[in-house]
Amino acid sequence: MIGAAGKTGRAVTRALTAAGVDVRAAVRSPDSSPRAYAAGARSISVVDLESGAGLEEAVDGVDAVYHLAPNVHPDEVGIAERVGTAVADAGVQRFAFHSVLHPDDASMPHHLRKAEAEHVVRSLLPGATVLRPAAYHQNLLDAARSGRVAVPYSLDAPFTNVDLDDVAEAAASVLTRPGHEGLTLDLAGPEVLTVRDQAVIAGEVLGVPVSAERIQTESWVAGPGAALSAQARSDLLAMFAAYDHHGLVGDATTLRRLLGRSPRTWSDVLRATSE
Ligand SMILES: NC(=O)c1ccc[n+]([C@@H]2O[C@H](COP(=O)([O-])OP(=O)(O)OC[C@H]3O[C@@H](n4cnc5c(N)ncnc54)[C@H](OP(=O)(O)O)[C@@H]3O)[C@@H](O)[C@H]2O)c1
Repeated sequence: MIGAAGKTGRAVTRALTAAGVDVRAAVRSPDSSPRAYAAGARSISVVDLESGAGLEEAVDGVDAVYHLAPNVHPDEVGIAERVGTAVADAGVQRFAFHSVLHPDDASMPHHLRKAEAEHVVRSLLPGATVLRPAAYHQNLLDAARSGRVAVPYSLDAPFTNVDLDDVAEAAASVLTRPGHEGLTLDLAGPEVLTVRDQAVIAGEVLGVPVSAERIQTESWVAGPGAALSAQARSDLLAMFAAYDHHGLVGDATTLRRLLGRSPRTWSDVLRATSE
């Protein structure tokens, strides 16, 4: 499991562990190991995705590799090439790549890097499975629970956000069962909601007022955006503009089929975390 100590990596590790898989977690530094072990990983490999150091050892002798790149990484394509090459050289049987919904959307440079990474992965590993998740419900969960959902994009744009645990369950299924080789799978949630809708639903489910507020771009740049690299800030500003224009909407049919049930709604996710 590449990127195992991050938000997505821990969710996929939990799902694989629940399916009875022994997970070897590839983490950036030994300091990240406790997070990977807490998610269920059996062993750890320290890997630097920027140089490729440690990759050969990390993929040696495993049955399958799940690859996810660090968020808005400028060298997403180089990372895909290093991981894909190590996996191909090791002769690993099954490989899945965590992409994003609508990677070909030219209004978002970090989506285009995912599209290029998909091409690199496919050229090195023709049997690779590509998963394209929508934005996670979990991105707004803490804000909803705090009573204020504040975002730097339109409150009225449409989204089919998806439960990260559903994505992880689908990822585990793809990695452990045959029949997904060479496929590209959109993973979107079952309902189209705006941020305004999400705040209203959160208020109803949690039984407390939840506001939806639009943060001005300048405030985001001076606030949360200030800690980011110039490239990550620029990527996210492009993403906010794209969200203003068309949100991020996909179809839930594939995820429903992979899960064998309806994907969880925003209400389901809120209820699960308030129990
Ligand atoms: N958030 C969403 O709604 C969403 C939707 C669709 C797709 N995605 C995609 O999902 C992927 C994962 O997102 P995430 O939020 O789970 O990311 P994340 O929490 O930032 O996790 C990324 C992991 O990569 C590790 N890492 C960073 N640089 C590294 C390096 N040089 N060498 C080795 N490991 C390194 C980090 O290590 P440390 O823990 O040590 O920092 C972290 O554990 C991204 O590619 C994103 O585009 C996200």
